[in-house]
Amino acid sequence: MNFFDVYPRWQIEPVKAKGCRIYDSNGVEYLDFYGGHAVISIGHSHPRYVEALTEQLSRIGFYSNAVINSLQNEYAEKLGALSGYPEYSLFMVNSGAEANENALKLASFHNGRKKVVSFKNSFHGRTAAAVEVTDNPKYRAPLNSEMEVVFLPFGDIEAVRETLAAADVSSVIIEGIQGIGGIQVPPPEFLQELQQICKTAGTVLILDEIQSGYGRTGRFFAHQYSNIRPDIITIAKGMGNGFPVSGMLVSPKFKAVHGQLGTTFGGNHLACAAAIAVIDIIRDENLISNAATVGDYLAKELRRFPQIREVRGQGLMIGLEYSEPIKPLRDRLLFEQKVFTGITGTNVFRLLPPLCLTQQDADDFLERFEKN
Ligand SMILES: Cc1ncc(COP(=O)(O)O)c(C=O)c1O
Repeated sequence: MNFFDVYPRWQIEPVKAKGCRIYDSNGVEYLDFYGGHAVISIGHSHPRYVEALTEQLSRIGFYSNAVINSLQNEYAEKLGALSGYPEYSLFMVNSGAEANENALKLASFHNGRKKVVSFKNSFHGRTAAAVEVTDNPKYRAPLNSEMEVVFLPFGDIEAVRETLAAADVSSVIIEGIQGIGGIQVPPPEFLQELQQICKTAGTVLILDEIQSGYGRTGRFFAHQYSNIRPDIITIAKGMGNGFPVSGMLVSPKFKAVHGQLGTTFGGNHLACAAAIAVIDIIRDENLISNAATVGDYLAKELRRFPQIREVRGQGLMIGLEYSEPIKPLRDRLLFEQKVFTGITGTNVFRLLPPLCLTQQDADDFLERFEKN
């Protein structure tokens, strides 16, 4: 059997990784400034993480949500404390799209409405509802055309005001920082007004922090730079450092109803062990403030490169916009300088390294970037 060929792939096979470094099948070392798409938070193969997962697996790896699992409560408590949302509840699933799927559904159960507002250039996943609120028709199959979704220009508060005026919109979904849209940071005033308008209209505000959350931007959540408190926050990527786990933080205003949401795998023992190890390490190793410090340093240094038109982002979620397509540059960086980076659209580099990146790693990157 062949693997279904939907991914263009680099001809590199990583077989080992440690911290911010990856090693391929020929023993070649790479610097990881992509984090497997913003997933690696605490660094590759962290010994505490490896030990926690191994130990959990040797006891019990899985049982269903039909029984008590106190690891879920331990994780929820730690997440509430570190994220600044101790009064919210946690629902766990398995992927980013699934977290958004449940958030959109919970909003609709809550206010009985159907219409959703999303933004131009957004990405929220590829499953049924998530793909309908994603601004890319290429990802939508004919059957993904059931929902009523309005895509508004990112940052256009008057368009939001007008669209929500009839008080018939169930939810507004927005990324903490648009990732695939090119590392676009929403202005704080925009998010603050958006929150206010949603409140007045009885519309649920969903913050998709799947890429921008979990300390990547130098705050636990990117929206915390704007001092807003959304109704639902979705998380994934950095949460499990590669273990497939995701979830949503739900404000106390939502009523939990037995049977309304559910999942077989979500919140299983192994997933909780991974999420607990990650959050403990982020807290104990001060990785959020590290992301802020090293991210600021990197952004400042990158602003010296005259060929970069704009450096955007926060913490270790950095976009570098060029005036021309950068694929040849990115390929040279990967195959000659041995650095993994992301790319979005044709002209924007995405730098999403692990949050344990040191200033020395940043200097190593800058040296290779300059040589490229
Ligand atoms: C902002 C955002 N939301 C949702 C998703 C979907 O996550 P997943 O691929 O785990 O379904 C992604 C993935 O890149 C993302 O960046």
